[in-house]
Amino acid sequence: MRELITDRLVLEPWRERHAAELVRLSADERVMRHIGTGVWTAGYAARRHVRALRHWAEHGFGWRAVLSRQDRAFLGLVSLIRLGTPVEGVAEPALEIGWWVDPRVWGRGIATEAAAAMLCEAFCRLGAESVVARYQAANLGSARVTAKIGMSPFRESTDPQGRPMRICVISRDDHRRACPRADAASGRG
Ligand SMILES: CC(C)(COP(=O)(O)OP(=O)(O)OC[C@H]1O[C@@H](n2cnc3c(N)ncnc32)[C@H](O)[C@@H]1OP(=O)(O)O)[C@@H](O)C(=O)NCCC(=O)NCCS
Repeated sequence: MRELITDRLVLEPWRERHAAELVRLSADERVMRHIGTGVWTAGYAARRHVRALRHWAEHGFGWRAVLSRQDRAFLGLVSLIRLGTPVEGVAEPALEIGWWVDPRVWGRGIATEAAAAMLCEAFCRLGAESVVARYQAANLGSARVTAKIGMSPFRESTDPQGRPMRICVISRDDHRRACPRADAASGRG
């Protein structure tokens, strides 16, 4: 399983050793403020960790740990998964992208840099036709990240608790236009 390398980051396929970092991130109220589940218990985080490992084993892609290229410190995670719930009107095959960054390094462009590399992975290696992001409308940080990586608002909806949700999409053609260096993220390993 190969790593993706960007200017400042290594995106490492999700591994056993990332379990403790997931427990820590998912217990942080700042990180989970706009996540429908709220903070995760250690047990629930362990189950999601196993699910992430299984997604890699079954599909050959999935969550990645975001590491500093300088010292491989853990900075967060980016996810690229098969759509759990299909989004009507979105060209298939479609994948879903997501991002969680450690609050200690918010505001440094980490989410944007990692997510842009994941779009290249989705379109260039995995042959996706569309990539979807879903987030609570109040999540202004995620709204900015989607805009900066070329995604467009597609549909408004609500989550099971009735909170406003936004679905953003980028198509293969839009990605090619927005990202002339479609091979910006090089791979190794
Ligand atoms: C959303 C999140 C991933 C952004 O990470 P980040 O590395 O700080 O994002 P970036 O530095 O790449 O910022 C991208 C843009 O978003 C803006 N931004 C980031 N957080 C913001 C916030 N809370 N409110 C408004 N704008 C915000 C940045 O200013 C930047 O825009 P700019 O270049 O125009 O100034 C991070 O806040 C996070 O992990 N949140 C908790 C987890 C989460 O909600 N994930 C999404 C679940 S759907």
